[in-house]
Amino acid sequence: MYFKQILDERCGCASYLIASRQSLEAAIVDPSIETEQYEPLLRERGFRLRYVIDTHVHADHVSGARKLAAEHGAELCLHESARVTYQFRPLTNGEELPLGQLRLRILHTPGHRPELISILVVNPPRSAEPSMVLTGDSLLVGDVGRPDFGGGDASAQFESMSKLLRLPDWVAVFPGHFEGPCGKGMCGRPSTTIGFERLYSPLLHMDREPFVSTLLNGIPARPLNMTAIEATNRGVADMPWAMLTSSPPTDEIAIDAIDSAPPNAMLIDVREPEEFDRGHIPGAVNIPQADLATRLAEVPRDRPVMTVCASGMRSLRSAQFLHQQGYVDVASVAGGTTAWREAGRPLEGVVDSSEPLRITESEWAHAGAMRTNTTETRSPVPAAHSAGGSS
Ligand SMILES: [Fe+2]
Repeated sequence: MYFKQILDERCGCASYLIASRQSLEAAIVDPSIETEQYEPLLRERGFRLRYVIDTHVHADHVSGARKLAAEHGAELCLHESARVTYQFRPLTNGEELPLGQLRLRILHTPGHRPELISILVVNPPRSAEPSMVLTGDSLLVGDVGRPDFGGGDASAQFESMSKLLRLPDWVAVFPGHFEGPCGKGMCGRPSTTIGFERLYSPLLHMDREPFVSTLLNGIPARPLNMTAIEATNRGVADMPWAMLTSSPPTDEIAIDAIDSAPPNAMLIDVREPEEFDRGHIPGAVNIPQADLATRLAEVPRDRPVMTVCASGMRSLRSAQFLHQQGYVDVASVAGGTTAWREAGRPLEGVVDSSEPLRITESEWAHAGAMRTNTTETRSPVPAAHSAGGSS
């Protein structure tokens, strides 16, 4: 057999090429939208692409599955429960896809999303037992996929983990993510084994109730442009441009610059509504980062725009995305609402709630490099609004 894991540093995703060296048939699992990267691998080894499989409808990156399947005349495969608008081969639990001497055995493991499948790779000439499992965003390394990306279910995720843990210890685990917003505590390694995770994954030692509660609380915000990306992957929208594909240099401004901004400047708070409702900078308008692409019409192109979040990470990604979309006069507020509050400035719209906030700021910058708190990785913070363009 031939097996290759392809890591996408930009979105923290992993895709896979599996092939039979005997029949030269190949399958690609969870392809990135940059499908050109698979061509030399297929061409140089003379592989014929037979299947393109998405383990689930992704919400954090645009899938290249439809494009790749169409270009190669391959079968586009998803679990039978996938709610998409395009034609696909519906896979069922327990079904085996033949790939030369190999077998790709489908295991339905919902939780992150209802249609999520894991794929057991079996090589019968060597063993009737699977040697590896591709888990999509069910079992991750040191973590499991979060259930709030559209139709997910934390309790179902618990059941799916129980199902996966029935596999033998030696089975190698290859997840759909090695970092990124689909989990909240991924180790960073791109693979693991069932045995190691059984021993050392904290979530897998929990009973159902604490497992569910841990999955639903302390989660990172929904990813940048998730609404547009998920709709694109279901075929109900066509917004592949909603992925942040570059990291244009973007100004970061201090909170004082909000005071000196021109009167027509727009301050966009890109946090989740539940965070916004706990208090926001006066005058800020809430457009969560997940909805930014679908609400772009609300962001004026002829006025200065400032983005703000909890501490400055989501706002920077959002500002970079606006730059990517041709906005010129955009800056991100460094330190965010936290810096504003800590400076003793008043917050507007504070709604008291005894419920703990579900969202925590993630250290991981989606579609960009890991953001650290060290100054050398950050742009200088000017004292006043310095983004160029119209005022
Ligand atoms: Fe996912």
